[in-house]
Amino acid sequence: MTEYATLTLPDGRATQLPTIVGTEGEQAVDIARLRADTGYITLDDGYMNTGSCQSAITFIDGEAGILRYRGYAVQDIAKHCSFIETAQLLIWGELPNPEQKARFSALLTEKSTLPEDFRRHFAAFPVHAHPMSILSALINALQTYDIPGLVIDDEEEFERVSAALLSKVRTIAAAAYKSSVGEPIMYPRYDLRYVENFLHMMFSKPYRDYEPSAEATAALNLFLLLHADHEQNCSTSTVRMVASGQANMYASVAAGVCALWGKLHGGANQAVMEMLNQLRSSDMTVKDYIAKVKDREAGIRLMGFGHRVYRSFDPRAVLLKEACDGLLNSMQIHDPRLDIARELEAVALSDDYFVSRKLYPNVDFYSGIILTALGIPTEMFTVLFAIGRMPGWIANWKEIYDSSTQKIYRPRQIYTGPAPREWQNRFVRERTTGGFKIPADLLADQPDPAGSETA
Ligand code: ACO
Repeated sequence: MTEYATLTLPDGRATQLPTIVGTEGEQAVDIARLRADTGYITLDDGYMNTGSCQSAITFIDGEAGILRYRGYAVQDIAKHCSFIETAQLLIWGELPNPEQKARFSALLTEKSTLPEDFRRHFAAFPVHAHPMSILSALINALQTYDIPGLVIDDEEEFERVSAALLSKVRTIAAAAYKSSVGEPIMYPRYDLRYVENFLHMMFSKPYRDYEPSAEATAALNLFLLLHADHEQNCSTSTVRMVASGQANMYASVAAGVCALWGKLHGGANQAVMEMLNQLRSSDMTVKDYIAKVKDREAGIRLMGFGHRVYRSFDPRAVLLKEACDGLLNSMQIHDPRLDIARELEAVALSDDYFVSRKLYPNVDFYSGIILTALGIPTEMFTVLFAIGRMPGWIANWKEIYDSSTQKIYRPRQIYTGPAPREWQNRFVRERTTGGFKIPADLLADQPDPAGSETA
């Protein structure tokens, strides 16, 4: 039975608003009819407290540090699943059975290559182009090679386009890297699984195959699955926004890539590594840096710390920190940036500035050290995040696409610009040609032809 909240407006009118309770007891007030009934809208700049949809994909309890995909704790998924199984779970709602696994795996293999003439796109970018720019542009370009993918009209077509995107995004990412370092682009191999195949395309050379260790493969698998979805974050909301206008899947996820790029979102993993590099190469101590953060020196934040939803440890950060230690030990690497990161964490977690604001390490704090150990260059970090987030974007796109009642996302606003004003005639020079008036601004560069009417 629906329960109602009562909202009393300044003029004394009261309105009844239905409430909604989610599976985990989360409560919401449904304001969809508020404006129609009262003339009021709700205002929440930055969506600090706005539920934009009901979704069955991912659950986060930010206070308790809980993250679940389709009901499964991320810790269990991390222990038992491959990235691709996780993708299938997110997209279709259940872990795949052996037959579904085999079919999807075959599709991923089939879709892993890029059309041969697609390669010329890589050469069209300037040498120092950021790979996120290349990735977003080329995901959109990919659609032009998949005309049937513009309109998805059954489950089979959906599975085909999902596999194409998941598979080719990694081929594009590796090819963008190879072009940027002036090495030949490697073809995918049909005998390798998803993560190994990506590492092969990144690091093999025509004369030498790259053989990743089991630990390296496992660390990248973990990185990808921990990034696979995170409910209504900036990029996923962007994907849903674009999808709600009935844009195709390629266009929607390309928009997600652009939204992910910013350093307050997915770009934070690159920003963390730049911060650690800066600390490593300068005389600044960790305490000096923290002091600058607290003094709010222009543009300085402790990157990889804080989160809109988590007010406690981000469970992904805990798992990545553990993996980081394990990977570096197995590779017998000592990275001084790990020591700096540990010290930053320790200082921040015992400082009232961070404690009182409930700022903890987020997913980006340790991930860069893992990626660096795997040989991934810093500019590629956010691209790796995008590969990882692809299943979540696809799952959210599907939720919009499957809904028969989905409306276009179209927030309202409170207008704060000028009130209506009288038009002031500035340089009045209007020409009439056959009764069609050409405005002054368009005439600015043209001499007045003889006989034209000007005012
Ligand atoms: N360093 C210093 N201060 C911070 C940080 C930080 N990393 N994060 C938040 N704060 C402070 C803010 O200055 C603010 O203080 P105030 O209330 O005194 O003004 C308070 O904590 C709340 O911060 P907001 O920016 O209002 O929090 P919001 O929820 O809008 O932002 C965000 C969350 C963007 C993640 C923020 O914590 C941040 O900038 N972190 C650093 C960038 C980062 O790591 N981003 C990755 C997030 S995870 C992801 O998207 C994959």
